[in-house]
Amino acid sequence: MIVCSCNVLSDQQVKACMSPGAGGPRTPAQVYRCLGCAPRCGRCATTIRKIMNASFAEASADAVEGCTETCGAVCLHQAKVA
Ligand code: FES
Repeated sequence: MIVCSCNVLSDQQVKACMSPGAGGPRTPAQVYRCLGCAPRCGRCATTIRKIMNASFAEASADAVEGCTETCGAVCLHQAKVA
């Protein structure tokens, strides 16, 4: 699905440029840059932010799922997901 009509960017392209860790984009502007373009009208920024947030949530859930820490009832890793 096209999420940015000005730059003809799809949701899949946005998801593809998301990578966990410090090197990945953290703002919509960084996503545009990652995809070799720049925002024009800005109408898509909210949608791009939602895709980013979903990607971050998915990465956090995956990290907790594979968590090997034994924190018990006060697990800080679980709190990051909630
Ligand atoms: S729709 Fe993305 S900059 Fe216009």
